[in-house]
Amino acid sequence: MMLGLNGLSRRWVGLLALYIAILSLLTPAATVKHDNFKTCDQSGFCKRNRAYADTAISNSKWESPYSLDQASLKFDNGILTGVVNKKIINTDESVRLPLTVAFYESGTARVTIDEEKRQKGQIELRHGSKASKQRYNEAEKWAIVGGTTVSKGAATSQDTETGTTKVVYGPGSKFEAVIRHAPFGVDFKRDGETQIKFNDRGLLNVEHWRQKVEKPKEEKREGEEEKKEGDEAVVAESDKSAAEDESTWWEESFGGNTDSKPRGPEAVALDVSFPGYQHVYGVAEHTGPLSLKETRGGEGKHSDPYRLHNSDVFEYEMDSPMTLYGSIPFMQAQKKDSTVGVFWLNAAETWIDITKTSTSANPLSLGIGSATTTQAHWISEAGVLDMFVFLGPKPQDVIGAYTDLTGYTQLPQQFAIAYHQCRWNYVTDEDVRDVDRKFDKHNIPYDVIWLDIEYTDGKKYFTWDPMTFPDPLGMNEQLDEHERKLVAIIDPHIKNEGNYPVNEELKSKDLAVHNKDSNIYEGWCWPGSSTWIDCFNPKARDWWKGLFRYDKFKGTMKNVWIWNDMNEPSVFNGPETTMPKDNIHHGGWEHRDIHNVNGLTLVNATYDALLARDKDEDKHHVRPFILTRSFYSGSQRMGAMWTGDNQADWPRLAESIPMVLSMGISGFPFAGADVGGFFGNPSKELLTRWYQTGAFYPFFRGHAHIDTRRREPYLAGDPYKAIIAQALRLRYSLLPAWYTAFHEASVSGAPILRPNYYMHPGDEKGFGIDDQFYLGSYGLLAKPVTQEGQQGQDIYLADKEKYYDYFDYWTYEGPGTVSVAAPLETIPLLMQGGHIIPRRDRPRRSSGLMRYDPFTLVIVLGNSGDAEGMLYLDDGESFDFQDGAFIHRRFLYTSATSSLVSEDVASTKASGKKAQDYLKQMESVRVEKIIVIGAPAAWKGMSDVEVSEELGGGESAAATRRVPLDWHEKDEGRAAWAVVRDPGVRVGGGWKIAFA
Ligand code: NOJ
Repeated sequence: MMLGLNGLSRRWVGLLALYIAILSLLTPAATVKHDNFKTCDQSGFCKRNRAYADTAISNSKWESPYSLDQASLKFDNGILTGVVNKKIINTDESVRLPLTVAFYESGTARVTIDEEKRQKGQIELRHGSKASKQRYNEAEKWAIVGGTTVSKGAATSQDTETGTTKVVYGPGSKFEAVIRHAPFGVDFKRDGETQIKFNDRGLLNVEHWRQKVEKPKEEKREGEEEKKEGDEAVVAESDKSAAEDESTWWEESFGGNTDSKPRGPEAVALDVSFPGYQHVYGVAEHTGPLSLKETRGGEGKHSDPYRLHNSDVFEYEMDSPMTLYGSIPFMQAQKKDSTVGVFWLNAAETWIDITKTSTSANPLSLGIGSATTTQAHWISEAGVLDMFVFLGPKPQDVIGAYTDLTGYTQLPQQFAIAYHQCRWNYVTDEDVRDVDRKFDKHNIPYDVIWLDIEYTDGKKYFTWDPMTFPDPLGMNEQLDEHERKLVAIIDPHIKNEGNYPVNEELKSKDLAVHNKDSNIYEGWCWPGSSTWIDCFNPKARDWWKGLFRYDKFKGTMKNVWIWNDMNEPSVFNGPETTMPKDNIHHGGWEHRDIHNVNGLTLVNATYDALLARDKDEDKHHVRPFILTRSFYSGSQRMGAMWTGDNQADWPRLAESIPMVLSMGISGFPFAGADVGGFFGNPSKELLTRWYQTGAFYPFFRGHAHIDTRRREPYLAGDPYKAIIAQALRLRYSLLPAWYTAFHEASVSGAPILRPNYYMHPGDEKGFGIDDQFYLGSYGLLAKPVTQEGQQGQDIYLADKEKYYDYFDYWTYEGPGTVSVAAPLETIPLLMQGGHIIPRRDRPRRSSGLMRYDPFTLVIVLGNSGDAEGMLYLDDGESFDFQDGAFIHRRFLYTSATSSLVSEDVASTKASGKKAQDYLKQMESVRVEKIIVIGAPAAWKGMSDVEVSEELGGGESAAATRRVPLDWHEKDEGRAAWAVVRDPGVRVGGGWKIAFA
């Protein structure tokens, strides 16, 4: 019984680890438990590939062993195919790797490398069950929804002299891919200049299929210690050809868990260089600056690569390349006036090393004329090598092309971009009703109240605790009276208990994830022993759909929406708090293959369930709302994300800004952090500043851990309560601007919060700035206070433009840094000249109650004297906008004619019934005020303006009338301003106001 002691002690260690894990989840400690998560050195494939890189880089004679078989090349209809041969070092053998380079109509190129030997078949697992032998190639099924129309214009030519194949492609044939044959590599050019290079440093590595050779067990010699976990590292250290370090090929242990690796080593890696580019952004989700740091050690640099391995990282730390809950393997590089990008489509664990090299033409040039090249080394554990290339040149070109592939943020319901009140937990339905009443009593707006896991009957999702939530419907009806919503949590782990129909069905229908022995996988999560739905199984997704029907999930009604948490998935007793990599999913894929896309599949299933729930009920079905913790490229199509379990301290507040910005430039702008901080109790000052910051998160939710003190805004006391209420009112009054920004994101992928580099891609000084941002296309520039006791804020203005304080119109002029006073009651917020900002200023209890409220337009005049702004509006809930039921206006102020006009942007389907009905409903909604900031001195003494409005019913004639204008003189540093009182023009109609 060899197993005896070993097995037993391992079990004890396992139990102890579990106990500690649970304890640590309940009692917040100061920092992340590093030991729970691997470093690159503890991750076999990462270590091997770093060693490979070291060998390649340190050896001047290194030549990448990959070459393109020229005879295999075919170019057909925008797609180049061929075979790359990998020569196996020290042998005459080579491995055939099918290559595809696709050129899309959008100007995006895609390089895919597979492995012939792994393209078919299955492998036997130890217990007779089977797993797929193939490299996982279905990430695309989850992540990609468009943008792959092949380019008809792409043209190829061979250059035998240089041994290259060239393909000219993209808009105006400005792009070129130069495919180098030996060693294999690709250079991407724009306008003749190289922007991106693949395999320039020779780090391409496809770990090929090998037969496992059972080595005889080494006899233990007398006096020799038994080999312990960790010893492998020492072995590899001493083995200088560490690229062939075999110690983790077939098995790998970490933290008491052993990963069997039935397919052996199968990593894919590639180096990508951005010549001339100083900054790279992206690869969310991490803490730390927006502009990514170098990762191979040294001062101010990380020593581990950025890791993407979706995990429940408890008490995650600041400024770290450690993995977090979600992964977006999309990177942008920035240099003056040029942005390019790559997207590494791979759902397995991934690490990205970043290094920079500087070259200077002349050592005496003092840096003038020197150029930085940023290099990224992408390493994934499994799957095919699949990389997309975007050649810009503008930030939006790159983000737009990426979101063209992975989809745009769904236009959310309006309530979803208003304020959400959450905590773990509102403890009874009466508690919820009470909080709801108190918001009203204190005149503080909110739209949504949330229920965390304690509402359930013993952590069984789709049930209510009968003692504490005896009347969920009554509760929801009360919320509905003020158009408020409830969001209830539903996690993917299902309590493994008899008499719980959800569990019984999951098991009897065989819809759960399996372990490596082909049995249903059991792990530990909130409910104790649990099983996990396998959303890769279409039958499981179908079944999940049924669970959300109103007659199944009793106690829910139309105003109830869903929070999918713990979907990395979080498994308390699993390796690195997640699922074993050798678990098996539908289709025979190992968990290793799909780990990073796992969270997305759950949200996808929930999204379909919520759609189906309403579709069955009624034709006017509304847009689902889901919040997810785990995500992958494409998750933006289904809802919002938040940054997980942060802490109630000042550095975390500051950190939230680059994190939310990073999501925005990664195609997933509907992002926020827990306002107030999840763990711990914020001081009142911190809470107040957090609300002021949160008012600018696209997803704005207060949330708190179960052990924290209650902190609903109305509890803050004077003066904090009033200041928090002001921040909330600011968010509510700007909802028309937020909603329009979301609309823009939903059709173009544009970020909602825009960092400096995005707005001013020619301004190198601003490329590293990540603590201030612009909201949408409105020129609203915010820099929330994130330090204790801070009374002022320095804001960087990149352009030569006028900026005005949002609240008192104090005038600033760029470029340069300006100081803005920021006492506790103030949010540093400026308005850049040249924009028109739509607002709704009437205080209401919830956004739903603002539906027919009038608008205020704020015209911000800058250097040119002209201004422009958009307004998008629809019913804020249904899909009717797809049938034309929306209002989309452009407001234009022209100084040459001193007039403001409202034009239709697009209403192509406006003749449809839904469109007509909507316009009719909005007929009475007016503009009640126009404020002109920086108003021309010539208006002094003007007492009224001329309004002409198109008459309804298709008549082109305009009715003309005069309305009053109030002039406000310049005062100290403040701008002059004027107010048009009650112009009464329809928000959905055409009109003109002449300031004469
Ligand atoms: C973990 C989530 O990150 C947190 O927000 C939530 O309150 C707890 N799970 C309990 O559900």
